[in-house]
Amino acid sequence: MTVRKVLRMGDTRLSRVASEVTSFDTTELHQLVEDMLDTMQAENGAGLAAPQIGVDARVVVFEVADNPRYPEAESVPRTILINPVITPLDEEMQAGWEGCLSVPGMRGVVPRHRRIRYAGYTVAGDRIERVASDFHARVVQHECDHLDGILYPQRVVDFSLFGFIDELAASGHFEPSPCDDPPE
Ligand code: NI
Repeated sequence: MTVRKVLRMGDTRLSRVASEVTSFDTTELHQLVEDMLDTMQAENGAGLAAPQIGVDARVVVFEVADNPRYPEAESVPRTILINPVITPLDEEMQAGWEGCLSVPGMRGVVPRHRRIRYAGYTVAGDRIERVASDFHARVVQHECDHLDGILYPQRVVDFSLFGFIDELAASGHFEPSPCDDPPE
């Protein structure tokens, strides 16, 4: 098990457009994905993108399963998605709170497409295609943004809804849960 250091906002490696993966089922790719899953689990995140551990590759992982922080969220099976492509299914946008392991201690409200289709590849190179909505769709859009060098604060529209978790909670913006770790 290798938990890697998560880069924080301001590190230029988070701002790069990541490179496509061209070789599947390699030792390197398996190792990268294992490290990403270990890191995501250790940090209690809902997802992680390869650039967050300093790796220039279009690889994301995510999982939402019985997380007490998101009691109303549908569970999302542990997914490894390589070279992902997102297609919005309609024009509807939905505002929701996000956090990021690369922006620790903060939350912000970000508009995302409510319904998307996403496609990509597994580590073995098999194609994945799914339709997702609400929190599931939000997590995928957040993680894939990392591959284009975009962190969620760049998507915040109303900066009165962006700040430190404890301050936002103190001002009644949202209820922090007992295990209030960054979700993504
Ligand atoms: Ni993130």
